[in-house]
Amino acid sequence: MTEAPPYPQRRTCPYEPPPGYREIGERGPVLKVTLFDGREAWMVTGYRESREILTHPNLSSQRTHPGFPIVAPRFRSQIARSLALIAMDPPVHDVYRRYLNPHFSLKTVRAMRPALEEIVSGFIDAIVEQGPPADLVPMLAVPLPSLVICRHLGVPYEDHDFFQDASGKVMLGTEEESATAAQDLVDYIDRLVAAQIKEPADGLLGTLVRERVIPGDVGHDELVSIALVLLIAAHETTSSSLALGIITLLEHPEQLARVLEDPGRLPGAIEELLRYIATTDLVATRVAKGDIEIAGHLIREGEGVLVSGTLANRDAQVHGRAHEFDVLREDTHHLTFGFGIHQCLGQNLARLELEVALNQLLTRIPGIRLAVPVDELPILGAGTVQRVLRLPVEW
Ligand code: HEM
Repeated sequence: MTEAPPYPQRRTCPYEPPPGYREIGERGPVLKVTLFDGREAWMVTGYRESREILTHPNLSSQRTHPGFPIVAPRFRSQIARSLALIAMDPPVHDVYRRYLNPHFSLKTVRAMRPALEEIVSGFIDAIVEQGPPADLVPMLAVPLPSLVICRHLGVPYEDHDFFQDASGKVMLGTEEESATAAQDLVDYIDRLVAAQIKEPADGLLGTLVRERVIPGDVGHDELVSIALVLLIAAHETTSSSLALGIITLLEHPEQLARVLEDPGRLPGAIEELLRYIATTDLVATRVAKGDIEIAGHLIREGEGVLVSGTLANRDAQVHGRAHEFDVLREDTHHLTFGFGIHQCLGQNLARLELEVALNQLLTRIPGIRLAVPVDELPILGAGTVQRVLRLPVEW
């Protein structure tokens, strides 16, 4: 057996797995990989095995555990190790989810559709008005998730430059940039929470103050931690998914034509996009808090476990023509939002943002196409999210 291959690796095409993942996939569904710091961790690449392990009682999200795998230097910071929800295990994790789930349910999110359509319409107006070429990163992909989560939380959007920049640095910056940006965000949110506790306003933060802080279930610092996670989790992931989704559709004109033939196909096409682009290459980082047997391997207590969305989403055992992008596919199931108790809290919101944005972009700007060859689009990041730095289009 050759040594454990390195993980994560960089993509060379925005929507295709990095070339080196072929070997990782072939050695799956469970193998060892080598992280940047030379440590090894288990990686699960099979779709069924990923679902099995993500519901295993011996899997823990406690990032303070000495065996917790660190996939990039920026995740060593104290703030990254103590994130609400993401770095928590039951029972506390489940209590927090119970507080938050109703505020991101399908019903709550559906009620946000008219407001979201108006927001998107404003961004598309600006793109049309400016004319080609237009860069969809600053004009749509970055500001849309930002404005939506700010409105939902009741955070002043005037400060969006600050937290777009800060959440980008937290997810993609160097260790020092990431730690400084996370601390800046904490300080900012801390002031915001203090003001809301004095005078709760409209929006989720004010609601949580009224429902949870005033009765004494959640303290000031805990609410700061929750708000921090919501802001960070909503920004990069949705913005990257939107940018990668647009690129993938524009690069597959025959698939795009099928979507345009019948707008009812858009939700199915979005599931296929989520499967295919796997924005969250790494859907879960965990440590074993007891032994785990899986696919003939024994993962011992204290060993790190990673789950590859990129590979599980293209597992030939469960997906026919796994490497083909097909908007009419029925087996679109994927792990892009994770699985198990930590499955993405914001997935309904993310899906709606993608649907409204793609619908308006593609119908209001017919003939839209990339203004540069796809291999000239700069992509930053590996393992967590794939940030597209520029997305010039023309029509
Ligand atoms: C396309 C966009 C998105 C993608 C691909 C995505 C992906 C993910 C994934 C893979 C996880 C699981 C992490 C794990 O198991 O360790 C997760 C968790 C989470 N996501 Fe998302 N996300 C997206 C959008 C959002 C949005 C818009 C929000 C807004 C609130 C959000 C909030 C969260 C939170 C709070 C968690 C932690 C849940 C928990 O630990 O219980 N996400 N997301």
